[in-house]
Amino acid sequence: MQAQFNVPSTILIGGGASRQLATQVGRLGGRRALIVTDATMARTGLAARCTEQLAAANVSVAVFAGVQPDPTDKNVCDGLALLRNEKCDLVIGLGGGSPMDAAKVIAVAATNDVPIREFAGYHRVAKPGLPLLLIPTTAGTGSEVTKVAVITDTERDIKMMMLDAHLLARVALVDYELSLTMPASLTAHVGVDTLTHGIEAFVSRKANALTDPLAAECIRLTAANLFTAWQEPNNRTAREAMMLAACLGGMAFANSSVCLVHGMSRPIGAIFHLAHGLSNALLLPEITRWSRRGAVPRYAHVARLAGAAASDAADEAAATALPDYLEGLNARLGIGRLRDFIKAGPDVFEAKLPAMAEAALASGSPQNNPLVPSMEDIIQLYRHVW
Ligand SMILES: NC(=O)c1ccc[n+]([C@@H]2O[C@H](COP(=O)([O-])OP(=O)(O)OC[C@H]3O[C@@H](n4cnc5c(N)ncnc54)[C@H](O)[C@@H]3O)[C@@H](O)[C@H]2O)c1
Ligand SMILES: [Fe+2]
Repeated sequence: MQAQFNVPSTILIGGGASRQLATQVGRLGGRRALIVTDATMARTGLAARCTEQLAAANVSVAVFAGVQPDPTDKNVCDGLALLRNEKCDLVIGLGGGSPMDAAKVIAVAATNDVPIREFAGYHRVAKPGLPLLLIPTTAGTGSEVTKVAVITDTERDIKMMMLDAHLLARVALVDYELSLTMPASLTAHVGVDTLTHGIEAFVSRKANALTDPLAAECIRLTAANLFTAWQEPNNRTAREAMMLAACLGGMAFANSSVCLVHGMSRPIGAIFHLAHGLSNALLLPEITRWSRRGAVPRYAHVARLAGAAASDAADEAAATALPDYLEGLNARLGIGRLRDFIKAGPDVFEAKLPAMAEAALASGSPQNNPLVPSMEDIIQLYRHVW
């Protein structure tokens, strides 16, 4: 089997890496930068710190701080309008996955004059975008190193998954110090998203020789550090390890694939507005329990990496232990059940199931799962998770 592997050509990683922003913008020849970010980054002064750094290097800056969590097509259009008004020649995404994804799509929309829903799917971006630099502040989505963006289509209420090498950043500045301010619940949600990236990349039908070691290390690091990062927000060792895990997980899943958890998670996010990491976390134990029959040796390896099973445990026993471990991890991180988060109630949830299952299948992700589900399987799984 052949595999294609894409990552940014420059990744600077380590405490303080974000202070290299102006140097890297200079290297790319940018004169007028658009910073794409959100209200939190504007409020905490992080966006201003970037602006000052760039101004000192004679790069003019426009700031678009209007990205909402789980960004929409409208966010992208608003950012694009500012980019055009200000005649920006370079885009910087600063924040969690939401601002980074919006920045990616703004950068390609600036050079590809088509409606943004045309980018949805695989390899649908015709021309390279403006030069793009990404700075993550969560650990996280790994979006800083992926060729993926997820944007909500507000008219159709679906999350559009876009995958194309033109969505890659030219430079990723991976600075764990920016993640120290994450509150506990955000740390938990984005951290389980990272773990899900590692696991899904590893068990995916598209897993390959380049992604396996990255996914394995992502799983090992997350299992060893997430709880500490959650419990001790100022523990720099745990924060640094989680930032690395997120980056490795991004490189792995974007070049392997995510599977059924992400496939079923996006419709929950689009319809009930649960944060991406949270909806993944709520699904992960049960979907793992169902899927493990499709790849017992791989799930067993994941269990050993996570410390959910002894290193000499037999495959069947190790794979069986994994969903229980994942359930326990959610409990330790204070993550409840799906029903706790869907305010619309069970009847509305039930009524939406066929459309959600259809959207999950249409995304293509479930088809990479070790066991490929039918529409009815997905509906049943949603009911189990409830
Ligand atoms: N492109 C990819 O490869 C990829 C992968 C996974 C997820 N995603 C997408 O990423 C989005 C989710 O991103 P996310 O989970 O990073 O969260 P987010 O970007 O939506 O941010 C969530 C909240 O956390 C705040 N926040 C961010 N960093 C902070 C910090 N250091 N301190 C305090 N608050 C902070 C934000 O301001 C926001 O209010 C979803 O839209 C999801 O679909 C993309
Ligand atoms: Fe994810």
